[in-house]
Amino acid sequence: MTAQRIRVGVLGHGTVGSAFVDLVAKQAPTIAARSGVQLEIARVAVRNVSAHKSSRVADLLTTDADFVVNDPTIDVVVEVMGGVDDARRLILQALANGKPVITANKALLATHGVELFTAADASGIDLLFEAAVCGGIPLIRPLRESLRGEPITRVLGIVNGTTNYILTKMTEESMTYGDALAGAQKLGYAEADPTADVEGHDAAAKLSIIASIAFGQNVVASDVFSEGISAITPADIAIANRLGYAVKLLAIAEIDATGSVLVRVHPAMVPHHHPLASVRDSFNAVVVDGAASGSLMFYGRGAGGNRRQVLFLVM
Ligand code: HSE
Repeated sequence: MTAQRIRVGVLGHGTVGSAFVDLVAKQAPTIAARSGVQLEIARVAVRNVSAHKSSRVADLLTTDADFVVNDPTIDVVVEVMGGVDDARRLILQALANGKPVITANKALLATHGVELFTAADASGIDLLFEAAVCGGIPLIRPLRESLRGEPITRVLGIVNGTTNYILTKMTEESMTYGDALAGAQKLGYAEADPTADVEGHDAAAKLSIIASIAFGQNVVASDVFSEGISAITPADIAIANRLGYAVKLLAIAEIDATGSVLVRVHPAMVPHHHPLASVRDSFNAVVVDGAASGSLMFYGRGAGGNRRQVLFLVM
């Protein structure tokens, strides 16, 4: 069988973008064998060509991102440049040109998600973003496809690896908040500005994306009430533990009887016997409550090792 060649235009070549092209180089033969599709990185748009001259894509670099999304020989666009305004414009242009887009940009989806989903639906072109929420855990596709006919009543979970790592270290090793945060940064779990993690903003962005899909409503990050973990003390954790609870940063989305969606992120005392209490380290877990399915739990690494995040960019 001859594999169908798909030419990929990549926007961005930072941590995620470079890991993505490496992973494509490594896994392209397996993907071709399994799917009949031969991926080829055709172009990589960057801000500064000289900064990437010694990379494996040196010959494919351009500073003209518009050229990539308008190039008729490019079949698929992967957006890993980050930021909001340029990424939004380029994704809309790619969709208008009939090119499927894959993005890991949670900040963009958490503010302009519905506009982008609507544009993709209107043109009948795929906009895929599994990697934007909970790293390598398949969550978005099950919500969008497997559970399409299932009325979802609540989504509840741990969606930030950095804070879960910090709380785990404070609980199990009596580590201070500062030392645990430094450890999370060293392991590559935290965002460039860890305030986004510890104050709950990263979890709020992910929750808004999840809630938009689960409930079919326009939920943006600023709709989410959010309180982080920076004020949690070792004494709080010790007392909760003695009472039979683990302290976790929970992201919760519910729909009430009037159809209003309620979204919040805050530290919570989770009974030791609840499955979320045993989600440790940088792992994430999301419990989806459906009317007929009951509770479903999705579990895995949500942060750490950019390869986990890029996994879903090649699927
Ligand atoms: N900083 C994020 C986290 C990375 O800790 O979960 C993955 O989105």
